[in-house]
Amino acid sequence: MKEKKIRPLWGSKIGFLLAAIGSAVGLGNIWRFSYMAFEHGGGAFLVPYLCALFFAGVPLIILEYTLGHSEKGSSPLAFARVSSKWEWAGWWMPTVALFGIMLYYAVVIGWCINYFIFSFNLSWGADPQSFFFQDFLQLCDSPFDFGGIRLPILSTTFLVWFLCWFICYREINHGIEKACSIFMPLLFLLTLVLVCWTVNLDGAGDGIKNFYLKADWEKINIIKHFNNPDVWAVWVAAFGQIFFTLSLGFGIMITYASYLPRKTNIVNSALWMSVINCTYSFIAGFAVFGIVGFMAKAKGVAFAEVIKGGPQLAFVVYPEAIRQLPFGQSLFGAMFFLVLIVAGLSSGISLIEAFTCSILDKFSWSRKRVVSVICFTGFCGSMVFTTRSGLLILDIADHFITNYGLIMGGIFECFLVGWLLKARVARRHVNRARVDGMRLNIIWDICVRFLTPLLLVILIIQALVGELSSAYSGYSLGSLLLYGLGWLLLTLAVAVVFSFYPWVPEKLKKKHHVGEDHLLT
Ligand code: ALA
Repeated sequence: MKEKKIRPLWGSKIGFLLAAIGSAVGLGNIWRFSYMAFEHGGGAFLVPYLCALFFAGVPLIILEYTLGHSEKGSSPLAFARVSSKWEWAGWWMPTVALFGIMLYYAVVIGWCINYFIFSFNLSWGADPQSFFFQDFLQLCDSPFDFGGIRLPILSTTFLVWFLCWFICYREINHGIEKACSIFMPLLFLLTLVLVCWTVNLDGAGDGIKNFYLKADWEKINIIKHFNNPDVWAVWVAAFGQIFFTLSLGFGIMITYASYLPRKTNIVNSALWMSVINCTYSFIAGFAVFGIVGFMAKAKGVAFAEVIKGGPQLAFVVYPEAIRQLPFGQSLFGAMFFLVLIVAGLSSGISLIEAFTCSILDKFSWSRKRVVSVICFTGFCGSMVFTTRSGLLILDIADHFITNYGLIMGGIFECFLVGWLLKARVARRHVNRARVDGMRLNIIWDICVRFLTPLLLVILIIQALVGELSSAYSGYSLGSLLLYGLGWLLLTLAVAVVFSFYPWVPEKLKKKHHVGEDHLLT
């Protein structure tokens, strides 16, 4: 007879926390947050951002931890244990994480590896913009052109999937936990050095004071500008950013919490993770606004003329600024791209783990085999983003997956836990599992049953209204339907197919194993 597999556990409290923070702190904290703050009212953006954190982010992290911990499973298993009718939604989240996000996330980490190498001789030269678009990406005009694979990008993308495979094929406490206990201190240290270096550059203070910390309240004043879609767009963006940055709606936190022992402080862990993640974004913002302020002064141009969002921030603005530095250009460049690589890898492994654990829970295959198949398939899927139209496809997929896929995941979770499992039953579980940490009170029930889902539904409707009023970034309808909506529907179809496969009935019963009663130290 086959030996029954026992669910692995995290080795320590800090190991779990570092893995959760590793998942949260990623590329999104560095290039997404700062640019959003610039575009959406500078310091004033913190208001919708913090509202999104308190009314959706924190209640949902607690919800994901609670669901994973009480049902002892990845999102499909946890959903199936609460209600078998909703198992497909439990599959959809890790499918979106892997096939929606990780496919392009790996390619972007690959670009960072290329640029890390370029830093040593500043290969981007005097015109980083044309270097990035013409020499490096060799970008096509249309997302349908493809125009062949870029070999330098393909090779670093392969390296990223290989590194992820190397970490994920080991059990959670030997693979992800060990990797994050090296990655996270390294990331915090490098970021601190970069921030200190940047804020001391000439002009950095002006960028930070005038564009980051100065608030433009009109841009977020939803009461005064109720009918203005641009003001709504700021709020939608803030909620989308909170989901992306806290890795919510991916099924990751459900999976990670399923590896916790019976006694654990769920509320404390959720608060620590959110505070550290959002503080990291805020501090990283000083480096971004500081370097742009420095560059604007060095070139004698306006701040708004030099700042750019998304990949352009890291691959055009930063290289240009690095070129202007009075000393240590290569060191600064290598450190900056290393920060992106480390932040990206620690998030990437969590995107893979959510899907891996889902498969392991349903099919009794070996972790090594499952991770190998996932990483190989993932690498093949990533190839589309290594083509000459990769950036355009990435831009569309990211927009739809973040604004719709993740938020839909949040709505399903609220329904499942708030109404089917019942919020008070989940809350009782959190308070019983508690060792010495904070208790969860009834405000959480109100959030997950009413407030959070209501906000998320309003946001989805507003996002759809925006979508119908103008095509995202001027892309053609065909490309938006194929790479945005089509991609989302494809992940949904994959999820539904997995949910049709029947469970071994034994697996749907909750069991506690030897070792789960110990306390993590
Ligand atoms: N949470 C990860 C990020 O911010 C996915 O990049």
